[in-house]
Amino acid sequence: MPRPSDAAEIMQRLGELAACTETRGEITRLFLTPAHAQAISLVCGWMQQAGLSTRLDASGTLVGILPGPSQDAPVLLIGSHIDTVRNAGRYDGCLGIITAITLAARARTLSLPYAIEIRAFGDEEGVRFPVTLTGAHATAGNFNQTWLAARDHNDITLATALANFGLNPQALAENTCAAHRAFAYLEIHIEQGPVLEAANIPLGVVTAISGAARFEVTVTGRAGHAGTVPMSQRQDALAAAAAMILAIRDIARARPNVVATVGRLTVAPDATNVIPGTCQFTIDLRAPEDALRHQAEHAITAALHAVAHADNVALALRQTHEAAAVTCDPRLQTILAAAIEKSGLPIRHLPSGAGHDAMAIASLCPVGMLFVRCAGGISHHPDESVMESDVEAALHVMTQTLQSLTPTDFAPGNPPA
Ligand code: GLV
Ligand code: MN
Ligand code: MN
Repeated sequence: MPRPSDAAEIMQRLGELAACTETRGEITRLFLTPAHAQAISLVCGWMQQAGLSTRLDASGTLVGILPGPSQDAPVLLIGSHIDTVRNAGRYDGCLGIITAITLAARARTLSLPYAIEIRAFGDEEGVRFPVTLTGAHATAGNFNQTWLAARDHNDITLATALANFGLNPQALAENTCAAHRAFAYLEIHIEQGPVLEAANIPLGVVTAISGAARFEVTVTGRAGHAGTVPMSQRQDALAAAAAMILAIRDIARARPNVVATVGRLTVAPDATNVIPGTCQFTIDLRAPEDALRHQAEHAITAALHAVAHADNVALALRQTHEAAAVTCDPRLQTILAAAIEKSGLPIRHLPSGAGHDAMAIASLCPVGMLFVRCAGGISHHPDESVMESDVEAALHVMTQTLQSLTPTDFAPGNPPA
């Protein structure tokens, strides 16, 4: 049988990776779970087939290394993530890693003046623990030790989950994961929005990534009998939370480019005939400019306190994540755009509303991102879909990009023009 094309092989591998899941019939692969371990082992095998040496760092990031011309050669990082949201699609994060492996295999024949390290991060989505981008932060040398105490829904701390996975949390505390000699970071990712498809353009150059903040809100009222407590005497935590959630939506609606989502909510005691005594929910708040996001955050905090006061419930608001908005490096944008042009494709620059590992790496080195068109702008959903011909185009553009990169152009003291 003839060997499949590189892009066909990437699509096939993405299908195989999709089978690493905690829940049959869907793709759910959370950080440091058996499904994550299965994915690491599969991807590690493909990295080794491509001629890369591999290791797992203390944050659960799988690293595939193609050496450079000398031991101290500068390093190009290429990364994305292999964890998923619950009931995910197969491309978010994984497309970038699987494509990077094929790219590194091609790079072996290109005599590049630098080494390549593929970083397959395990925690971009932040679904299991109330912290996120931990692998990318560790790579950037910015892992915050307090995150080790973060607890998942089963009350397992991140430190315990890392240890159960065979990793050494102490190594994170000692910051042993930081990438050295990195001169730039590139990430290939599905767009997760409708812009490229609407313009009938396969690839896009990312200009900036929206900043994001996440919060956990606890509303405490008083549980009571649903039949006996008069409406005027209730302290209904869920009714108060509902008013808060609508206020959050309205605050975001009133501000162009601000988006706010309440994606998780739990109620206790959670019974039909009991007034809810406690309600917890999350807020995910994003904006392309940090000042805009901070204004919205202040408005939300004030609105939540006002509802709590009016409804006679207690309110606790805890921030669990913050990532500042990031500008993609103009030099990397130019190189990616030139490679797209050379491939005979139209150039489209666009910002990213979704968060990416690149945000955490931006404090380490210049970052650049290439978006691949997806169907209907659908993402974080099983219907996520990408065309093989677009993956072929991305491979072509990235191969060209690797050949155009000169590490000295990115040396400190050589800032973007
Ligand atoms: C990750 O996909 C995020 O933007 O939340
Ligand atoms: Mn992603
Ligand atoms: Mn995602």
